[in-house]
Amino acid sequence: MKTVKIGLLGFGNVGGGAFHILSENKELIAKRTGVAAEVTRILQRNRNKKRLFAADPALLTEDPDDIIKAPDIDIVVEMIGGIEPATSFMCQAMENGKHVVSANKAAIAANYRLLTETARKNNVEFLFEASVAGGIPVLSALAGPLGANNFLEITGILNGTTNYILTKMTEEGLSYEEVLKDAQAKGFAEADPTADVEGIDAANKLSILIALAFGHYVAPDAIPTVGITGISAADIEAAENAGQKIKLLARASLREGMVEYLVAPAFLDKSHPLAGVNNEFNAVYVTGDMVGELMFYGRGAGPLPTGSAICGDIISIIRKRFSL
Ligand code: HSE
Repeated sequence: MKTVKIGLLGFGNVGGGAFHILSENKELIAKRTGVAAEVTRILQRNRNKKRLFAADPALLTEDPDDIIKAPDIDIVVEMIGGIEPATSFMCQAMENGKHVVSANKAAIAANYRLLTETARKNNVEFLFEASVAGGIPVLSALAGPLGANNFLEITGILNGTTNYILTKMTEEGLSYEEVLKDAQAKGFAEADPTADVEGIDAANKLSILIALAFGHYVAPDAIPTVGITGISAADIEAAENAGQKIKLLARASLREGMVEYLVAPAFLDKSHPLAGVNNEFNAVYVTGDMVGELMFYGRGAGPLPTGSAICGDIISIIRKRFSL
């Protein structure tokens, strides 16, 4: 059986999750694609950090060039997060003829044109399903099965940390600070939760959705963004009394041929499908001119849901480029 060699850049929660799935479901993936997907190298810079999943120490390297420039690596999976050096690593990998999969919403949103153009110029695949709404396959759906639609509106709960905080404030009457600590302990919140609670993470994901759905790149810092740090227990109670819930919504819509966009907390009637999306779950509510309204729902964070999306992208690349 043909073997496709995979290099992982990053071995934190997401890297560990992807590695675990590729090991655990190795035979299933081989059976479905006719190709063996093998992780042959892992960039792990901090060897002392506690890991959820273990890898053979012989696979580990501290030098990114062992992956980006290695002639024997076919697919590079970038999971180090942050804009740099992640963007440069991805571009270099593509320039060296490697297909790239990434979960890195910040780097993709900031450098969408550079990354997609570098992939095109080098005739390699660049897939990033895991970067928006974790395990929910919304990007592939927009580009594939929904590709015959003009999108009229996309509204998402795209950040698990803030949704978890708002849910616990609503259901258990806890304060913002108490729940944030809990979300960090559970591993949804970023190491620095500023990007989560200020809405920046949701704006990064909305920028990627806009690029795919509306064919129009909007830099994340051009998206008007309000986070949840100003939401008080009194606001939550006022919403409750009005039969509503407060959710951090990322919304893009088409109005008279122009795309309008915003990330901000919003009052939603409890009857709205997005009002029932609780805890760390994400959802994306899409209106297409032909299909009408549909909603995608699932886990938007965590090692295995995010790893699942990464492995799905790896499988797509194998089918397109390596299967007979
Ligand atoms: N910190 C992000 C969230 C992780 O809470 O949704 C997934 O992108």
